[in-house]
Amino acid sequence: MSCNQKTWILGIETSCDETAIGILDTENRRFSFEKVLTQLPAHAPFGGVVPNLASKLHLDHTADILTDLSTQYPNWREKVCCVAATTKPGLVTSLLVGATVGQSIAKSLNVNFIPIDHCEAHLYSSLLTESDEGPENLDHVSFPVCALIISGGHTLWIELDKNMESTCFGTTLDDALGECFDKVGKLLGLPYPGGPHVEEWSTREPIDPVDLPFTLSVPMPDGTDFSFSGLKTAVRYGVEKASMPMTEDFKISVSKHFHDVIERLLVKKVQTCLRSRSPNEIWLSGGVSANKKIRHLIEEIGNKNDVLIRIVPRKYAGDNASMIAYLAYLKYKGYSCRNSDEPEVSPYSVFSAPSSR
Ligand code: KG4
Ligand code: ZN
Repeated sequence: MSCNQKTWILGIETSCDETAIGILDTENRRFSFEKVLTQLPAHAPFGGVVPNLASKLHLDHTADILTDLSTQYPNWREKVCCVAATTKPGLVTSLLVGATVGQSIAKSLNVNFIPIDHCEAHLYSSLLTESDEGPENLDHVSFPVCALIISGGHTLWIELDKNMESTCFGTTLDDALGECFDKVGKLLGLPYPGGPHVEEWSTREPIDPVDLPFTLSVPMPDGTDFSFSGLKTAVRYGVEKASMPMTEDFKISVSKHFHDVIERLLVKKVQTCLRSRSPNEIWLSGGVSANKKIRHLIEEIGNKNDVLIRIVPRKYAGDNASMIAYLAYLKYKGYSCRNSDEPEVSPYSVFSAPSSR
């Protein structure tokens, strides 16, 4: 890795409710600065992200993180060779904060600004590691790769061929998987966002197991597409019709049942992907991939089918700016990506929705 004499790539992420700045030191193949400030406690009382509050907090948090950066590295400006920020998709008013701060820093330092697609950053985050070796070397990847991105806003299957051309071959027809977890969590009265809590409750053992008077069987689209709104509604109807007290044991039973359904579904979809596309590697990323049971399941499928599985380290599963800086590095080096001065940055048709820039 090298980026002329200046060797640092500064990444900024403000697409939703995490404000993050990360710096990839391309010479030493490590992140020299990583900070994520979450807004979750501020949005929790509203049960979801409040856009105006989010953009205000991004402004405050970006300033706070840059102050930390200046304290830790007073001469950081001299080392930065390019600046990157998420410019789509996400909440426009939140994206604008990171994009404006990023472009301003880039202009003031007279370096390139690289706009980054958030989903594409999640996609390549499967190559990040927590080891001192730094990100996995792209030369070690055996294409074709099929990547599953499961987050709060997206559920996407992307295939990367040996030229790193990408094709989207599956998505959700309605809600994203993380959204479904969050809605089930809300229904059970668990804190926002529900995903990690539903997982945690599904691992608890009930004192007095509840025999649920409903079974969640939900039709799924064929192939590699997903649909989660039916499942979410089935959980709601099931819980309402059961009209049982919302005891801890009841919450545990519903969480377990819901989690089982998700596990079976993901196994089925990964198997369909293996059968239909015969990838050499499967990648998994996005906030939901922090889920330990899901990680374990996908790894098992890989072992059984002799397919290499690369799962984003849990540290980088949720929104972060290290993945933004890393994708900017790949673009800077010309891997997979169009030149940053071209008007449409992402080569991926799936990502070519109107840009928020
Ligand atoms: O990637 P991310 O941080 O933000 C988006 O780009 O959407 O993903 C956030 C989503 C939320 O829906 C959250 O509930 C879910 O990831 N999530 C989980 C877990 N940890 C986070 N879902 C299930 N199990 C988890 N352990
Ligand atoms: Zn995300």
